[in-house]
Amino acid sequence: GVQIRVTADAAQPERATTSALQACQRCTLWCHATQVVPGIGPRDARIMLVGEQPGDQEDLAGVPFVGPAGQILDQALQKAGIDRKQIYITNAVKHFKWEPRGKRRLHKTPAQLEIDACMIWLDQEIEQQQPDIIVALGSTALKSLLKSPKATLTQMLGQEIRQRSCVIVPTYHPSFVLRVTDEHQQRAAFEEMVRALSRARVLA
Ligand code: URA
Repeated sequence: GVQIRVTADAAQPERATTSALQACQRCTLWCHATQVVPGIGPRDARIMLVGEQPGDQEDLAGVPFVGPAGQILDQALQKAGIDRKQIYITNAVKHFKWEPRGKRRLHKTPAQLEIDACMIWLDQEIEQQQPDIIVALGSTALKSLLKSPKATLTQMLGQEIRQRSCVIVPTYHPSFVLRVTDEHQQRAAFEEMVRALSRARVLA
């Protein structure tokens, strides 16, 4: 019979990395970032998650959502019954934007200019992946996906937006869940993320 050899490489999830993306200087964020952080996940993933931009740990690892926000995301995915290895995870902006604060690198929200400059990469990923469902984690992802600088999360929360052959499900960003200090509000924000992810699982 046919021998199928599974190598370490074959077991690696496919990455949408191209040398063009690695070399991107379409905005100035590359100057202060360690590396570009490409999306990750299998080609046949039906669900795509879009975050804002890599954080401190993602910038060092070169992989999205491996830091504190990633832990919240993992908890929400687990609660929604989604296997992280089976979905595609990326960001609207692919370089870490930060400013020094003592020894720490403090996250800065990307400007519209940077969202716009990075949009071609997200468009390319959607074209390649052809996802059925895209979960927009936070306002930056939503602005990029809808190509609408005015789009806000509060306005669109709970809606399902049909775009070409896929459905966009907006929800909170996991970092928002981390930031909220009120315990009840925090739980509510987390549950809203779980609800959106569960909805994605049902639709996929
Ligand atoms: N926040 C994001 O939006 N994306 C990451 O990859 C990590 C934190």
